[in-house]
Amino acid sequence: MKPTRRKFLSQSTAAAAATPAVGLGGSTAFSQASAAGSLAEENAKKGTTDWQLTRVRINEGKFRTSLIEGYVSHQSIRAGEKLDFFISTKPERKFTIDVYRLGFYEGKGGRHMTQLGPFEGKAQAVPEMKPENRLRECEWEATTSLEIPADWPSGVYLGKLTTIPESPSEPYWQSYTIWVVRDDRPADVIVGVSDNTWQAYNQWPVAESLYTDPRGAHAPGVAVSFDRPYGKYTQITQQPLSIGSGEFLLWEFQIAFWLEQQGYDVSYVSNVDLLEAKSISRGKVFVSVAHDEYWDVKQFHAVDEAIRGGLNVLWLCGNSVFIDSPFAPSSSGEPNRIISRRGCFGELRGDEIESYARIFDTLKSTAPDERKIMGVRSVVPFNGGGDWTCRNGDHWVFEGAGMENGESIPGLVGWEHHGEPDPDREGMETLAEGKVWAGGKREGKYTSVIFPGPKDNFVFNASTVFWNCGLSQPPGIEVPYSHFSRPHGPDERVQRITKNLLDRAIAGKGA
Ligand SMILES: [Fe+2]
Repeated sequence: MKPTRRKFLSQSTAAAAATPAVGLGGSTAFSQASAAGSLAEENAKKGTTDWQLTRVRINEGKFRTSLIEGYVSHQSIRAGEKLDFFISTKPERKFTIDVYRLGFYEGKGGRHMTQLGPFEGKAQAVPEMKPENRLRECEWEATTSLEIPADWPSGVYLGKLTTIPESPSEPYWQSYTIWVVRDDRPADVIVGVSDNTWQAYNQWPVAESLYTDPRGAHAPGVAVSFDRPYGKYTQITQQPLSIGSGEFLLWEFQIAFWLEQQGYDVSYVSNVDLLEAKSISRGKVFVSVAHDEYWDVKQFHAVDEAIRGGLNVLWLCGNSVFIDSPFAPSSSGEPNRIISRRGCFGELRGDEIESYARIFDTLKSTAPDERKIMGVRSVVPFNGGGDWTCRNGDHWVFEGAGMENGESIPGLVGWEHHGEPDPDREGMETLAEGKVWAGGKREGKYTSVIFPGPKDNFVFNASTVFWNCGLSQPPGIEVPYSHFSRPHGPDERVQRITKNLLDRAIAGKGA
């Protein structure tokens, strides 16, 4: 019989699970129905930098720490719902789970919400790889569960796992779990994390990302499960202390930190929430961030519907909406816990066909042209590094940014981008355009655009994964380096352009 999520490791941990966690942050209740101002109150609470990991050891292969690792039952969860934790320690050690909400918090970046445990840890089995689709799906026993308290605002949350040494001569070890707390209230800004893509690139336990099939890096039919820990991120950057957090702490946290510093009214969603348009149409502007590559086609249709309904959208990202990756339920029947590569968005054409044929083998176009909702699309070469060069300095987007035509923000474009503007889109304007250099030598071209929606709304595409690196640099977050170039970190021009876009969207002034 398969273990189920509701089966707990021991009576002692079950007892702990039955005790609702209590937030540490004070008495201000956060109402799910409350609007602007709540996050300002939240960010006035006592912050800490202790959300960061201190001690991580990759001890199994190149990506994994078996000393302590785990995953949670939901990519996205509401207050009042129960989040299960599935944790393994090898060797067996007692451990704790410290829960943090990430935000600004006077520059500290996180708030300690609660501590769970200590628990008795045990080693849980690494699942066999399914030969038909290379899936590695854990079916671990739940360690504990947490009912998300009503006063926890929407946000990105980390569960910091820490072993308790058996003797003074032994160090402690750590890793993260990560999830989104969502709500359903109207909000000015809705930020969508790119967790499908985190999972697509997750190699845990050995080499089981969506890129490691012997048939080729972009083979169709391969699948990955959210029921497994996130291993150390495996390309572009070497940051073992982000292990367990997907790509959030690499190039996504920067925008959450900055938005909350600026006092914007933000609500957060996961890719899985985008299956329904109402998850984002309750906002004034939806923001896709960083590396939002893997989408279920239902996400595409939901965003398309929201744009047609008047939602403003900022694509502060690169290589987004590129791979058609339908959600599927887990083996135990939990919905939307597996994604697989079915095909890609958009028609293949021109020299791209030859490139795709060589790179992708049998991958086919299976979903609509992503330019319908993004204006631009992934182009060959997919990656590279470049400068973000202004081509339309008189546009309101650049107001107060002091950028003239031809002026560049060094290194802001990378490691993936968008180009080839939709020729059929009326009213589309190019804002920035220039070269990237893939592998430091193969020339490519990116294009940043803006176009009007049908109801006095607009869609902006920054066309770079690294855009958010220009907004802020929270504690412990490093600037990435790829294709022999890198962005410079916070830049007043990136901040002003982003503020212009957000403020115009929130004011409903249109393109
Ligand atoms: Fe990508």
